[in-house]
Amino acid sequence: MTASHPPFRVLCLPGSLRRDSWNRRLLWAAAAHAPATLSLELYEGLGEVPLFDEDSARTRPEDLAGVDALRSAVAAADGLLIATPEYNQSLPGVLKNALDWLSLDSPQGEVLEQKPVAITGASTGPWGTRLAQTALRQVLHACGALVMPTPTLFVASAASRFDADGRHADEALAVSLHRMTTALDRWIAQLRPETRDARPVCG
Ligand SMILES: Cc1cc2nc3c(=O)[nH]c(=O)nc-3n(C[C@H](O)[C@H](O)[C@H](O)COP(=O)(O)O)c2cc1C
Repeated sequence: MTASHPPFRVLCLPGSLRRDSWNRRLLWAAAAHAPATLSLELYEGLGEVPLFDEDSARTRPEDLAGVDALRSAVAAADGLLIATPEYNQSLPGVLKNALDWLSLDSPQGEVLEQKPVAITGASTGPWGTRLAQTALRQVLHACGALVMPTPTLFVASAASRFDADGRHADEALAVSLHRMTTALDRWIAQLRPETRDARPVCG
């Protein structure tokens, strides 16, 4: 594999809708410190996904556009990077809701099935989303996603890990993010070697 190949496309899902979310900042920082072999794109549409209803005929058709957009973005990605907050010792409903929709079969198939995924998370408390990530890992496993086992990254005391404008992670976090995204690149390459090999080689 050389740098002349197109990067893997990684869709980043923040599990928080909060404007100043630490988890969104964590994903920005991950994009800043990822190797050039990955292209990270932040998904901002989880707020457009309606409450899950298995009888989706009862959901307003215009609301299902939020599900379709998410599903298409996930289907088009070579891998996912999910940053979850911890709410009441588990993953947030916003994220679980989106994953429940994605677990359904669709014209694009079950888009999480065999999808390489890395997870991380930030909380303002001292435990760094350990319980939320454990719960998230289990849900993704149930959906057939291939969750990267290591390295783990639990970001505790999130408010002290970024600079004043919240854009830049401290040095230790930057190193951890580079290590994690480099491992994600290897994880995708290992699970889907055809993805990179089949795409045109540039200059
Ligand atoms: C309803 C609620 C429950 C929470 N429960 C936990 C918890 O169980 N463990 C924890 O470490 N933090 C908990 N927190 C703190 C959040 O993880 C923290 O506010 C985090 O920064 C939110 O993510 P965000 O900054 O990306 O929005 C909770 C926050 C809220 C609002």
